[in-house]
Amino acid sequence: MSTVNDINEIDDPADANALVDWFRASTQYINAHRGKTFVVLLSGEAIASTHLDKLISDLCLLQSLGVKLVLVHGARPQIDTAFSVANLANDYHRGIRITSPESIETLAAVVGAESIKLEALFSAGTSTASAAPLTTARNEALVLTRGNFVTAMPIGVRDGIDFHHTGRVRRVKAEAIAKRLDEGSIVLQSNLGYSLTGEVFNLTAEEVACQIAIAIKADKLITLVPQEGISDAQGKLIASLSPADAKAAAERYATSNDESEKVLSTAIEACLKANANGVHRTHLIGYQSNGALIRELFTREGAGSLISADSLDDLRPATIDDVAAILSLIRPLEEDGTLVERSRELLETEIDNFKVIELEGAIIACAALYRTSDELAEIACIAIHPNYRNLGMGARLLQSLSADARGFGIKRIFVLTTVAAHWFIDHGFKEGALADLPFHVFKSENFVPTGEKLVVTASDPDRRIVKEFNAAGAADERSALPHQPLEGLARGRPVLPPS
Ligand SMILES: CC(C)(COP(=O)(O)OP(=O)(O)OC[C@H]1O[C@@H](n2cnc3c(N)ncnc32)[C@H](O)[C@@H]1OP(=O)(O)O)[C@@H](O)C(=O)NCCC(=O)NCCS
Repeated sequence: MSTVNDINEIDDPADANALVDWFRASTQYINAHRGKTFVVLLSGEAIASTHLDKLISDLCLLQSLGVKLVLVHGARPQIDTAFSVANLANDYHRGIRITSPESIETLAAVVGAESIKLEALFSAGTSTASAAPLTTARNEALVLTRGNFVTAMPIGVRDGIDFHHTGRVRRVKAEAIAKRLDEGSIVLQSNLGYSLTGEVFNLTAEEVACQIAIAIKADKLITLVPQEGISDAQGKLIASLSPADAKAAAERYATSNDESEKVLSTAIEACLKANANGVHRTHLIGYQSNGALIRELFTREGAGSLISADSLDDLRPATIDDVAAILSLIRPLEEDGTLVERSRELLETEIDNFKVIELEGAIIACAALYRTSDELAEIACIAIHPNYRNLGMGARLLQSLSADARGFGIKRIFVLTTVAAHWFIDHGFKEGALADLPFHVFKSENFVPTGEKLVVTASDPDRRIVKEFNAAGAADERSALPHQPLEGLARGRPVLPPS
């Protein structure tokens, strides 16, 4: 779909419907991100990118949706170029620039120019991507605030080499930043810091972003990188990974001859440091991919890599607010005949039977337990989003609903399935016949016989599931199933560009 400013400009009804569906589904993310604080790192490479105006527009959009934004920018390639033009040495030691007294003025001018460029772009208020001026969540004009929010100190002499005006973050004025954010400003901070003696220091933008995120207890640190995110050995984007796996990736990229992979490595290290110091979610998102930031934050599939030490997902009872998300999860399975169709109204009335797994604000799995009598219950509508299958989520839902059933005094559970009989058999069910089930089950609104394809599996009084229930309160064998947090596993989101 090309860029459009109005849904009515979309010729293909399928595209228009997809847009409407996405817009509806985005509500959960908008709610999840509102009032949260994100620190976004814009490297000099990202500023030089041809997508910069769209990126700025997407950042403005985030702000107008109620996200508090701190932008940290660097200017590495711009400084390299300016130094070459001015015949100043581009000297590095251990990957850190040596900022000589002769070069600091030029460097400060280059960084200042990049800040001004960003200020101007934000001040434009409109972009190619949006016709109307963007405003804050309170409908006020967007204001960008710059200030001396970072106090710096010199790196000093290392390995006998004086780094002169290359410095480190000494302190972040967290309260001052928070105040500006609360007032509705976007805070812009460059990679320059000032010492208590008034000297200017060249810092790495990665360190500045990381330290600000830690100091202001940001909800997310988002780094915009040249790649789509972190990839595995086959080049496939890894949607989410643990700090340990991210560390291994950073080490791998650090030894690459490709400069852009070194940039990625530095960004990952900044994310890891933030992760280790209380910033629970850090993201690496490609700045070269149009809309990747929006897709990472507002779609279930995401578009980059998320690093988190948290158990990322949450298994919980469904609420009425989950109905739309459950419907969008099960619709494709209803359409291909895997699940029986449910109307929105039916789902709304039955929502208390459902449990869901939520990940980063998105519903990625659901299942329901229907009590058909005091002693019998049906497990139904179990669905795991295709990107998250084989991660143990189905097993966790089944285990959770089985525990609920036991709590209700249920003695037998059955499931009617045409396609997943073996999966249930693997989980202690035994294949049965329709005749094994009481007559009233067939009257169930959820049960539509599908002819010869139908396979009925039902737990048997002599089989494990029932035994578990009889062992009043004893831990069932299945509860030994490991809760598989997604840490360390590729979340299986598609290779697009995420969270
Ligand atoms: C069936 C389903 C619920 C399983 O959930 P899941 O979270 O992907 O499964 P788990 O991670 O707990 O288990 C993975 C194992 O089950 C196996 N498996 C997955 N789907 C299977 C199926 N339909 N039949 C048999 N085995 C299956 C996998 O191969 C894997 O086996 P392995 O560990 O030996 O490699 C999920 O694939 C799904 O949503 N399918 C589409 C909807 C559906 O069929 N629902 C059942 C209708 S009642």
